Amino acid sequence: MKILTTVAEARAHRRAHGQVLVPTMGALHKAHAELIRVAREHAGRDGEVAVSVFVNPLQFEPGGDYERYPRPEKADEEFCRKAGVDLLFRPSVAEMYAENRSVFVEESSLSKMLEGKSRPGHFRGVCTVVAKLFHILEPEAAVFGEKDFQQLAIVRCMVRDLNFRINIIAVPTMREDDGLACSSRNQYLNGEERKQATVLFKALHAAADAGKKSAQEIVALARNVINQAPLAQVDYIEVVDTESLEPIEVVRPSSLLAIAVFFGKTRLIDNIRLG
Ligand code: PAF
Repeated sequence: MKILTTVAEARAHRRAHGQVLVPTMGALHKAHAELIRVAREHAGRDGEVAVSVFVNPLQFEPGGDYERYPRPEKADEEFCRKAGVDLLFRPSVAEMYAENRSVFVEESSLSKMLEGKSRPGHFRGVCTVVAKLFHILEPEAAVFGEKDFQQLAIVRCMVRDLNFRINIIAVPTMREDDGLACSSRNQYLNGEERKQATVLFKALHAAADAGKKSAQEIVALARNVINQAPLAQVDYIEVVDTESLEPIEVVRPSSLLAIAVFFGKTRLIDNIRLG
């Protein structure tokens, strides 16, 4: 596995065949293994699977968890080696951002919804770093998980609107055995919070399986289940259209139930398709 840390090295790196990129912030876990597996499937044996590990300061809101975000460099490197990754791109903050940077990439519609309301500036940070990674590595395709459904939709939109010649591949959410969506932030949860966090998956399924069409009823169902966990603090529960991410009142074939819930200081998100 090749490890590159500078933009110049990445530019000089010549690949014989197409590259499929898995952009990450590190602290790699089994959901990343799945993204890497799908990347390999698309790249083929002769293609290149690249993983970027970069904790992007631009996408953390002030007072967020940027400082405490886990950075297990050695373990991530070993993880990538074992997963058969060909290229690990691991730049520093100084390598990625000039101190007087003044150009950002901003999606102006989808990013106003859901996460955007609770985390202003987050998607500007995501779009900016993803655009930079796309320019630096020039992959043929890039893989994103559906747990971050809004991020996936916004990246697709950026690729379309800015004419990146990159195929975006979506991968279904990976879950722990008890249904909790895999996330690097799960490791912040203490024992009791971790136990109670399983309520998210239960709430999504209870709401989706009830067969209701009214968003209000679906949200109420999900909220009731989540409220059974005393440590859970709901940030939002919304039924939205999968394309526009606008809230909808009546479920139709392309609808999504999206939730964000705090357990202590840890904010977890998850979603399920409806209809
Ligand atoms: O999903 C993530 O881990 C990050 O938002 C991403 C896409 C790597 C950009 O920093």
